[in-house]
Amino acid sequence: MTTIPVLLGDRSYDVLVEEGSLARAGELLARHLAPRPARAALIADEHVLSLHGPRLLASLGGLACVTIPLPQGEAAKEISVYGRVLDELARARLDRGSIVLALGGGAASDLAGFAAATYLRGIRLVGFPTTLLAQVDASVGGKTGINLGAGKNLAGAFHQPSLVVIDPAVLATLAPRERNAGFGEVLKYGLLSPAPAILARLESQAPLEGPALVELIAECVALKADHVRRDEREESLRAHLNLGHTFAHALERAQDYRGLQHGEAVGLGLIAACHLSTLLLGCERPLADRVRRVLARFALPQRATFDPDAVLEHMGADKKRAGSELRLVLLERPGAPRVVPAPERSLLLDALAQIS
Ligand SMILES: NC(=O)c1ccc[n+]([C@@H]2O[C@H](COP(=O)([O-])OP(=O)(O)OC[C@H]3O[C@@H](n4cnc5c(N)ncnc54)[C@H](O)[C@@H]3O)[C@@H](O)[C@H]2O)c1
Repeated sequence: MTTIPVLLGDRSYDVLVEEGSLARAGELLARHLAPRPARAALIADEHVLSLHGPRLLASLGGLACVTIPLPQGEAAKEISVYGRVLDELARARLDRGSIVLALGGGAASDLAGFAAATYLRGIRLVGFPTTLLAQVDASVGGKTGINLGAGKNLAGAFHQPSLVVIDPAVLATLAPRERNAGFGEVLKYGLLSPAPAILARLESQAPLEGPALVELIAECVALKADHVRRDEREESLRAHLNLGHTFAHALERAQDYRGLQHGEAVGLGLIAACHLSTLLLGCERPLADRVRRVLARFALPQRATFDPDAVLEHMGADKKRAGSELRLVLLERPGAPRVVPAPERSLLLDALAQIS
């Protein structure tokens, strides 16, 4: 089993990566959680619950556990679902010593995390992420949240889990498009990592399954854990993890969240960011081409249909909400990110032209 510690003083926790670990959940909880909880609530994406819930529940032994199903995918992050989940936690009489077990992709883990962060002013959370995106990103670092009518992720809290159990074997049941989308996020880590290992794995043709996939996930988690350790609240360094994301979020919003999957939008955002990195920071010229080759390997889109003016407006609007100027994460070279003020409109349009 690979163990990656996330070092945050008295809020430190381990991320465990091993094929088959879901079926050992009870044993792992007993080993890693002190004091032992008397009660638990399994808050789970209903589709994932039907596929993988029985193995997790069967492993819990004597731990009393209530199951709270969530609607599949992003629908889990509605405020009405959040309210219902809190009511169900109260009805099940979970107390301050109880735990929430979150099973599902990033949507389920965001909702379950926010419920755990706020129920009784915060109870412990253990993540069992089941998409590649959730395993390398959403389950680690303590960002939780839900969507409001006014936009995505507008309500949330920082609440670090007490343990994260990653079982790469569960990825086998993902729809191919969903699985491939996760590699958009993995590619981001490849470009950010000062060590060439992640990018090299993505650029080689060696199959990414079994031990190679376990190692790849662990390398991504280690990089995220390092950013979180050094900047838990995203005041500086953690912002580097937004490489490609300013473009991606605006693209997703311009398509009303109904077109591209998040990981697909991230892949496109990485092409745009690498193009600007070459123009503005002198980054090696073929970097955007290297990105395209990796995207092609995972059947991820290299172009999309969108209104560039709308995308630029959404990029700007996001930052106005944060009360700051638009800034972008770009690369001096792979492994050397820099946050820079966004360039003039014509250069941003040029970057968008690379992906339209
Ligand atoms: N908190 C963070 O740090 C963070 C980071 C990145 C993304 N996110 C959030 O994550 C969400 C996206 O997460 P996602 O891409 O994992 O998608 P998701 O959670 O919406 O899941 C996508 C689909 O895959 C299905 N699924 C999940 N695991 C499966 C499995 N093992 N087998 C079969 N089907 C499975 C789900 O039922 C769903 O239909 C967004 O809401 C985003 O805001 C949060």
